[in-house]
Amino acid sequence: EEWQVRGAAQASKAEIDDDGVVSSRILRKTIKDFRLGKELGEGSYSTVVLATDKTTARQFAVKILDKKHIIREKKVKYVNIEKNALNRLGKRDGIIHLFHTFQDIASLYFVLDYAPNGELLTLIKRFGSLNEECVRYYSAQIVDAVKYMHDNGVIHRDLKPENILIDSEGRIQITDFGTAKMLDQKEDGSYPLDCRATSFVGTAEYVSPELLNDKHCGKACDIWAFGCIVYQMIAGKPPFKATNEYLTFQKVCKVQFAFSAGFPMIVRDLVKRILVLKPRDRITLRGIQQHWFYNQVDWNDHASIWNSKPPEIA
Ligand code: ADE
Repeated sequence: EEWQVRGAAQASKAEIDDDGVVSSRILRKTIKDFRLGKELGEGSYSTVVLATDKTTARQFAVKILDKKHIIREKKVKYVNIEKNALNRLGKRDGIIHLFHTFQDIASLYFVLDYAPNGELLTLIKRFGSLNEECVRYYSAQIVDAVKYMHDNGVIHRDLKPENILIDSEGRIQITDFGTAKMLDQKEDGSYPLDCRATSFVGTAEYVSPELLNDKHCGKACDIWAFGCIVYQMIAGKPPFKATNEYLTFQKVCKVQFAFSAGFPMIVRDLVKRILVLKPRDRITLRGIQQHWFYNQVDWNDHASIWNSKPPEIA
């Protein structure tokens, strides 16, 4: 369902279904149903604000997008991608949940899960780096969530520690699907591995060489970004980092990165299998799951991945 730009009167009025009945099922919320609190984050096209449902007292994060700005900058397509991707993925551990969408004259609103423990990036920065056990805990959740995304035909395309939030139980929640790619389902109901050429480029430090070289973006792009994130959780900084984007891109294309002395061998081995130039030579998510770093992880046991206590950080 695409955003329908409705008039002011309609936008705030209760909606009436096909039979002319006001139905609670389609009665949309409005921003007046929430008490707005502190700002949680700011993007180029949106602001995320803490919001409390006035009737249930439940907290949410409301992403507010300025319609004029979105239209002026031709970003309507991306707003719809975010909505469609989140709706396709539904409620799932590891994926930020979209509860409601609505609009008024000036703004579009996404009512999302509130992740009170902030970004994975903040966690990495606060502690400098994470130990092996923490890296296993967070990265196993990322693998499980990305696998679910890919199995449902969604490529995120901008995975990075800023887009991985930590919920009240210390579990990861992937957010920011505005630059996702929705794959079209094949006849047998499965989704293809790849998609056509694209003009899209994500964030310099996490962008894959195939996207820079061939403008090619498949599931392997998310796996590359995952490798960069795993490296960063151990090293405290991403593997490809330079003083400007151009120099970063050059490093990415040459797969020019190094491990510091203390970098654990088992994680080195994993990262080396991910940060591989050709996407077809790169390890798959299934291959990652079978890597010895995850020997103790039972990938079929959803609860063991999502319901166990996060390890102490040190
Ligand atoms: N910052 C951006 N989105 C957020 C969310 N859903 N919860 C907490 N902080 C956020």
